[in-house]
Amino acid sequence: MTTTIELKPTSEPLGQAQRAEILADPGFGRHFTDHMVMVKYTEGRGWHDAQLRPYGPIEVDPATAAVHYGQEIFEGLKAYRQQDGGIASFRPRANAARLNRSARRMGMPQLPEELFIGAIDALVKQDAAWVPDDPEKSLYLRPFMFATEIGLGVNRPAGEYLFMLIASPAGSYFSGGIKPVKVWLCEDFTRAAAGGTGEAKCAGNYAASFVAQAQAVAEGCDQVCWLDAVERSYVEEMGSNNVFFVYGSGDQARLLTPELSGSLLPGITRDSLLQAAADLGIPAAEGRITVEQWRADAASGAMSEAFGCGTAAVVTPIGSVKSKNDEFTVADGNPGPVTLRLREHLLGIQRGAVEDKHGWLHKI
Ligand code: PLP
Ligand code: COI
Repeated sequence: MTTTIELKPTSEPLGQAQRAEILADPGFGRHFTDHMVMVKYTEGRGWHDAQLRPYGPIEVDPATAAVHYGQEIFEGLKAYRQQDGGIASFRPRANAARLNRSARRMGMPQLPEELFIGAIDALVKQDAAWVPDDPEKSLYLRPFMFATEIGLGVNRPAGEYLFMLIASPAGSYFSGGIKPVKVWLCEDFTRAAAGGTGEAKCAGNYAASFVAQAQAVAEGCDQVCWLDAVERSYVEEMGSNNVFFVYGSGDQARLLTPELSGSLLPGITRDSLLQAAADLGIPAAEGRITVEQWRADAASGAMSEAFGCGTAAVVTPIGSVKSKNDEFTVADGNPGPVTLRLREHLLGIQRGAVEDKHGWLHKI
């Protein structure tokens, strides 16, 4: 196994003026930095040929296993410009650990943590000019691994893989910035069931979600809210976010988030917010909540706020909820104080403006 990343930055980086134009309005996932990392895996040999090289297309044989059977897993994390001008990634070890849990579920090899971190450090150092200075923007990092063995057999997991890392400057994930989103309660489809792949971050979960997401958009909503696959009643998560509910207000405010049921993604933002809430003295519980309860608590005013959270979306208020039968707002539909406080606190830690009590920042 090799963990040394060979540097081959032979491409001409994009000109400064063009890069500045992109960074002024990066959107999400539309532009990529000048380089990428590639590391090969071969059964019996382990990880080898780690390279940082110019960003560009890769050649894929038509019989490549991932193209047919979807053995692909990915991660999402960000590098942030620090207040002092430096750069840090947020909780990369947590992403490395989740990638390896996803790998285990998908019959894929474990990637050593130091290779994951080394790849991020090497790419972000090389393409540091792509980390935006604007505190509302960041560099989104997309590590991923897929089966490259050639052949159509399905009697065992593939024996060859590629791990790659690409980076993309990011502004707001939702086009309205922190404008509250409208979510679609998905009743026709489910995302995952216990024993399936719901808690893995694998391509197939997303492939299966697009038809529901298209339905959400057709209904005038921003994103799907998934319900459990058995009773179709318990709130699980959103298309690319975990969900939090706020009950009460002021000193009495408390948080509730769906428990890790085995079929939802254990978000690193979710985990960070549970810890941040404890640090801020806001009681937070993991539990189960039905859609009926959500409706009733929003109607009675017991529920004061709801928001989604994820690496790409940060903390995004949920303003209203639509289903086939009805539509309701959470409070007055505007971003609530607890949502905004948690968002500011988390962004503060990520930017080096709030004390990093838990050692979440990894300086690059
Ligand atoms: N749930 C889904 C389905 C996601 O795609 C994401 C995004 O990664 C999340 C939750 C939030 O996870 P994290 O906070 O680790 O980004
Ligand atoms: C992330 O927040 O990292 C996500 O994975 C969202 C993504 C699927 C666009």
